Amino acid sequence: MYQALYRKYRPSTFDDVISQPHVTTALTNQIISGKTAHAYLFTGSRGTGKTTCARIFAKAINCEHPVNGNPCNECSICRDADNFALSDIIEIDAASNNTVNDARELREGTIYTPERCKYKIYIIDEVHMLSKEAFNALLKIIEEPPPHIKFIMATTELHKVLPTILSRCQRFDFRRIRTEDIAERLLQVADKEGISLEADAAALIAKAADGGMRDALSILDRCIAFSDNITGQIVSEAAGIADREYVFKLCEAIADKNPSEALGIISRLYDCSKDMTLLCEELITQFRNIMIAASAPDRTDVIFCLPSELETIKEIAEKMPLADIMADIDALGKCSERMSRSLSKRIDLEMCVIAMCSGIHTSDNSSVNKSSVENDRGDSRTVEILKGRVAALEQRISEGYQPQNTRSRQSAGGAITSAERVTDTSSLNRSKLKAFSGWDSAVKELSRVYPSISSTLTCSRAFESDQSLFVETDNRFFIQLLRQEDNKNKLLETVSNVSGNKYTKVFTKCVPNLSELIDTHVETASVDADSSAPTQTPLDVLLKKAEEAGVPVETSAT
Ligand SMILES: Nc1ncnc2c1ncn2[C@@H]1O[C@H](COP(=O)(O)OP(=O)(O)O)[C@@H](O)[C@H]1O
Ligand SMILES: [Mg+2]
Ligand SMILES: [Zn+2]
Repeated sequence: MYQALYRKYRPSTFDDVISQPHVTTALTNQIISGKTAHAYLFTGSRGTGKTTCARIFAKAINCEHPVNGNPCNECSICRDADNFALSDIIEIDAASNNTVNDARELREGTIYTPERCKYKIYIIDEVHMLSKEAFNALLKIIEEPPPHIKFIMATTELHKVLPTILSRCQRFDFRRIRTEDIAERLLQVADKEGISLEADAAALIAKAADGGMRDALSILDRCIAFSDNITGQIVSEAAGIADREYVFKLCEAIADKNPSEALGIISRLYDCSKDMTLLCEELITQFRNIMIAASAPDRTDVIFCLPSELETIKEIAEKMPLADIMADIDALGKCSERMSRSLSKRIDLEMCVIAMCSGIHTSDNSSVNKSSVENDRGDSRTVEILKGRVAALEQRISEGYQPQNTRSRQSAGGAITSAERVTDTSSLNRSKLKAFSGWDSAVKELSRVYPSISSTLTCSRAFESDQSLFVETDNRFFIQLLRQEDNKNKLLETVSNVSGNKYTKVFTKCVPNLSELIDTHVETASVDADSSAPTQTPLDVLLKKAEEAGVPVETSAT
């Protein structure tokens, strides 16, 4: 069975963890001296080694023959821990177990002494996701746990952790891993895998991974699916860096105050299954770069971009007043925040980009302001476009988001091809979807008969509903593959041969961070039961948004 590289190369000792010496030295010293704390909080961005270090620590402290503060990885405790067969090391994903009852259950579990180990270790991942009540239920036990219990909590969002918890933990901040270190590690991994990886290609992956080793290894995985001779060109294609070109085009359109062009680019990226939240984050990154280029052109060292992109960034910076750039970053930040709670992320982003193109957001701090729209005749075109978009979206909503037959688009740079009857599943009612249990066998069979398809499914999962199959993968090439009728039939045929289930339609979705979801949600990946469905109808949401943007929308009675 193929194992994703980032799992295969998860460090098993502190010595193997790179770029976090302040953490690994302190933890090994504590283990050697026997002076460990009862609760730890590991913070830092994703893929920097938090979960890895938590697992190593849990092993090391219980290991029968620790070596210089590291686990031996040979005794029965270490081996069982590696196989997740040790009841005394308990990993909890707070993102899916965040209720008070979960917390109470955990608290009750702490009464019992460890079965085989010296310490019972609770590793609570994404601890910021716990509800306030759950936090409170845990507080007492974290404050004064029984001597045989230790907690390691991990979070990517420190600011969301309650201060009462913070003050009870020993905190370790994991740093983003330096690009050079990531590149070096990638070269080692490639070497062990017998893959040729050019130094430039490794550097490019490292840059794209933005400090996260997991992302770097996932990109390498994707590249390997294409070739075992990895060049910069392959990386650009596999890492979706081709999309970056569009991100810059979008920045340019915003700088040129051209909403029509901007909306066209968003639409193209959307059709290619680009994640809108990710796009918003990328815009923030690039506008930050533009801000630096505009305000401190000599500080290119803190501009995070590929060398070839620097010129474009400088050109855009010259076109824009600094105040506009800063207002844009502010607007994008708010948009990103709103998107995290929103049903219609695309509209959020469109609204924001239109506001940026028209300068609506700069004229008043309280985000989009109605009177400025009405007073400024120059913006009437923007308003018209926005009205048109809202109407079109309304229509799509009233049609129930049927798979749309998008116009065939000009293929540009190979990234965009015609979108056919392949739709993403985001708009479908997920509560009706059932996990498709035959998926693993189907992928296995695919890797035998159609390896090119299976190579895009190393990290994937599938759901079913009636006669449709819903496939989620972190590899957007799958979606491109499935645009060919032939590949779609191969997939359906294989699924049918393996499972006996006949599906007539396939829906696909690219979920860039799927590996993370699968990593932490194995048990619950099936159906996210309809989580307190909002009472607002999509139309309400649209009208509210239009109102926020100051767009007069006629609400014809239907
Ligand atoms: N500091 C590191 N040194 C070496 N590999 C790392 C490091 N951080 C992350 N990785 C790689 O990324 C994968 C995911 O790391 P993980 O510890 O789960 O990250 P997170 O900080 O998100 O919990 C690991 O399996 C490993 O392959
Ligand atoms: Mg983790
Ligand atoms: Zn051991």
